[in-house]
Parts: sequence; structure tokens; C-alpha cells
Amino acid sequence: MSVLPLLLSFALTSQSTSSNSTFTCPTHCTCHLELKFSSCATANLSDLPSVIPPFTEHLNLSFNHLVFIRAQAFQDVRRLHTLLLNDNRISNLTDGAFEPLDFLLRLDLSRNRISTLSEGFSSGLVSLRELSLAQNQLSSLNEHYFSHLDSIRKLDLRHNSISHIHVRAFSSLSTLRRVFLDHNKISTLTNRVFSMMRNLEELGLSGNSIQNLEVGILSPLISLALLNLTFNNLTHMDFKGFLSLYTSSTHIHLRGNPWTCDCDLQRVFRKVHSVHRLQLDDYNNLSCYLPEELRDYPLRDVDNELCFAETVTVLIITVTVMITVVAAIIMAEKKRKKTNKGKHWTEVGNKSRNFSQTPEDSVI
Ligand SMILES: *[C@@H]1O[C@H](CO)[C@@H](O)[C@H](O)[C@H]1NC(C)=O
Ligand SMILES: *[C@@H]1O[C@H](CO)[C@@H](O)[C@H](O)[C@H]1NC(C)=O
Ligand SMILES: *[C@@H]1O[C@H](CO)[C@@H](O)[C@H](O)[C@H]1NC(C)=O
Ligand SMILES: *[C@@H]1O[C@H](CO)[C@@H](O)[C@H](O)[C@H]1NC(C)=O
Ligand SMILES: *[C@@H]1O[C@H](CO)[C@@H](O)[C@H](O)[C@H]1NC(C)=O
Ligand SMILES: *[C@@H]1O[C@H](CO)[C@@H](O)[C@H](O)[C@H]1NC(C)=O
Ligand SMILES: *[C@@H]1O[C@H](CO)[C@@H](O)[C@H](O)[C@H]1NC(C)=O
Repeated sequence: MSVLPLLLSFALTSQSTSSNSTFTCPTHCTCHLELKFSSCATANLSDLPSVIPPFTEHLNLSFNHLVFIRAQAFQDVRRLHTLLLNDNRISNLTDGAFEPLDFLLRLDLSRNRISTLSEGFSSGLVSLRELSLAQNQLSSLNEHYFSHLDSIRKLDLRHNSISHIHVRAFSSLSTLRRVFLDHNKISTLTNRVFSMMRNLEELGLSGNSIQNLEVGILSPLISLALLNLTFNNLTHMDFKGFLSLYTSSTHIHLRGNPWTCDCDLQRVFRKVHSVHRLQLDDYNNLSCYLPEELRDYPLRDVDNELCFAETVTVLIITVTVMITVVAAIIMAEKKRKKTNKGKHWTEVGNKSRNFSQTPEDSVI
């Protein structure tokens, strides 16, 4: 890492400016702790303050009218740890906008108007732990969006319009612990999209329209502790899909889905319940959507009845079939016997006639 040259250049800069008193807090901003904290929030800014004190570590620029972040816009505040740009009107982040913020740990870009990102947007953000792009206008996540986020832990993408995620969109995010994709427009997840996320602990997918999870899509997530699939479009669940989670313990949330309550589903849930490492935290809150007569009925309450009824039906059908088969066999057997007997009797009759004829003849 280029820490040493950076520190050196920083030392030189601060030396050349000789004292802190040369730097004052920018107009419309308030500063604390020897200018380490600068808040320029809610200041109607449409441009960045022309001079930001170089010691600034926390910069709050939220609730302004910023539209555009030019390349290396923050090159004079290289010591930034936290940069809040949320609640602006940013639609375009130029390549290298955050270069070279090698110390930046947290970047908040939520509630802006970002619809695309370029590969270079994340360039220089090598230490970034937490990135929020929540409530923007992203409609897809492309292959190179997050290429340079070598230390990222938490990625918040809630409330965008994401419908497509490139299979390699997350492939460079092996350090990621928590990703929030809730409240987007995801209906299918490409298989292997999570294949590099071995450290992922929390996956938020609620409020999408996911209809089914491909078996194996979750299997690379060996650290997953919480899976939020509430408020999707799941009607059925594949037991193998759940079972492919090779974790020590995973809490799974599933309410708000239009479950089709049949015995298959009941069996899946019963089996999942029997797997110790999988915990269906909101099982008691799952309700049926179909069949119509069970709408809004708690799955927990109907499952036994339903499957009891189904078992009884199966039993009745089985018994009926068995009785029919047995009856048919008996009938057939009877018929065979009857025919055989008839033949036998005729034979015997003939024989006996012959036999009886003989004595008669002999008598005669
Ligand atoms: C200038 O600010 C830095 C960082 O806040 C501090 O360590 C240093 O003591 C300050 N120097 C003066 C002369 O105030
Ligand atoms: C940034 O400023 C906004 C608006 O004043 C405030 O609500 C928020 O708490 C500030 N954030 C931090 C981390 O200081
Ligand atoms: C921001 O602009 C609004 C109206 O455009 C005004 O009422 C408000 O006082 C301004 N705030 C600041 C901090 O200048
Ligand atoms: C973003 O701004 C740059 C520089 O003004 C421009 O070249 C680029 O086309 C813009 N990109 C988008 C998506 O608007
Ligand atoms: C949910 O799935 C059904 C088919 O199972 C489909 O007709 C419907 O459009 C889906 N809803 C959404 C919001 O995707
Ligand atoms: C799951 O997502 C919903 C909706 O975003 C949220 O309200 C809920 O708290 C989440 N559950 C967990 C356990 O995080
Ligand atoms: C979930 O179920 C429990 C008990 O079955 C109930 O007390 C709770 O209110 C339910 N929560 C929701 C959000 O429906």
C-alpha cells in the first residue's frame, strides 16, 4: 500500500502551509476537533466547497444540491475516513471521482440519482468498508461496477430498480460480509452469482419478485448467517436448495410470500425444520396464498390438516384400488376355477359314464 508516500506528501503539504490557522472552516460548514470534522450538510451547496481543510477526516455533505463529482474532487482531503454525499442530486460519478482516498472507510451515496456506474468509479477506494448506493436508480449491476473495492464489508443497494445482476458483478467482493439488495426488481438470480462470496454473513433479498431459487445458488455462501427472502414471489421451495447451504447456522426469513399450501410444501418445511443448522425464524408467520380457500391461513395451522386429509385421500384411494384389484383377482380366480371344474366335471362325467358304462355293459 502507498501509505508511506501519502503520509510524506501529506506532511509536506501541511508543512508548506505551516499552521492550522491558515485553514478555516468553509463557509456554510461547521467544523470541530481541529477541523477533523466538517459538516457542510443542508447548506444548499451545488458545488463542493472550494477549500476543505486537509485534516478533515469526516466530511458531511449530505442534503445539498450536488449534481456531479469531478475526477479527484477530494484530492486535497486524502485523510478522509467518512464521506457523506447522501441526499444530493448526483447522477454522474466520473472515473476517479474518489481517487485517491486511500483511507476512506465509509462512503454514503444514498438518495441520489445514480443510474449507472463506470468501472473507474471505485478506483482508489482500496480501504473502503462500507458503501451505500441505496435509493438510487440503478437498474442492473454490471461486471465491473465494484472492481476496486478490495476491503468492502457492507454494500447497501436497497431501493433501486435492479432487475439484472451480471454473474460476475460480485466476483471481486470476496471480503463482503453484508449485502442488501432488498426492494429491487429481481425476479431471477443467475446461478453462480454468489460464487465468490465465501465471507458473506447477511444477504438481504426482501421485497423483490423472486419466484424460485435455483438449487446450489446458495451453496458458495459458507458463512451465511441470515437470509432475508421476505416479500418475494415464492410459491414453492425446494428442499435441496435449502440443504445446499453448508453453514453452521443460518436464520432464514420467508414471510410475505404467496405460498401455495400443499403437502409438498409442508413436507419441505417439515424437513427443513429437522435440519438443525437451518432456522426458519418466522415460520409461524407464513401464510397461504393458494389454494383460494386457504388464503391468509397460517401455513403452520393448515399443514397438518391438509396433509392429514391428503394422507386419508391417498389411503382411501390406495385401499379402493387394492380392494378392486383383490376383487378382480378373486373373480378371475373363481372364474378360472369354475371353468376348470366344469372341464373336470365333464371329464369325470365322461370317465364315470365310461366307467358306469362298463359295468352296465358287463351287466348287460
Ligand atoms: C494542526 O492539526 C493537526 C491535525 O488535527 C494537529 O495534529 C496539529 O497539532 C495542528 N497544528 C497546529 C499548529 O494547530
Ligand atoms: C450529517 O448531516 C445530516 C444533516 O444535518 C445529519 O442528519 C447527519 O446525522 C450527519 N451525519 C453525521 C455522521 O454526522
Ligand atoms: C437554502 O435555500 C432555501 C430556499 O431556496 C432557503 O430557505 C434556506 O434558508 C437556504 N439554506 C441555507 C443554509 O442557505
Ligand atoms: C458523466 O459526465 C462525464 C463528464 O461530464 C461525461 O463525459 C459522461 O458522458 C457522463 N456520463 C453520464 C452517464 O451521464
Ligand atoms: C409472481 O409469479 C406469478 C406466477 O407464479 C406471476 O404471474 C406474477 O406476475 C409474479 N409477480 C411478480 C410481481 O413478479
Ligand atoms: C427482512 O427484510 C424486511 C424488509 O426489508 C425487514 O423489515 C426485516 O427487518 C428484515 N429481517 C431481518 C431479520 O433482517
Ligand atoms: C408472527 O407470529 C407471532 C406469533 O405467532 C405473532 O405474535 C406476531 O405478531 C406475528 N408477526 C407478524 C409480523 O405477523
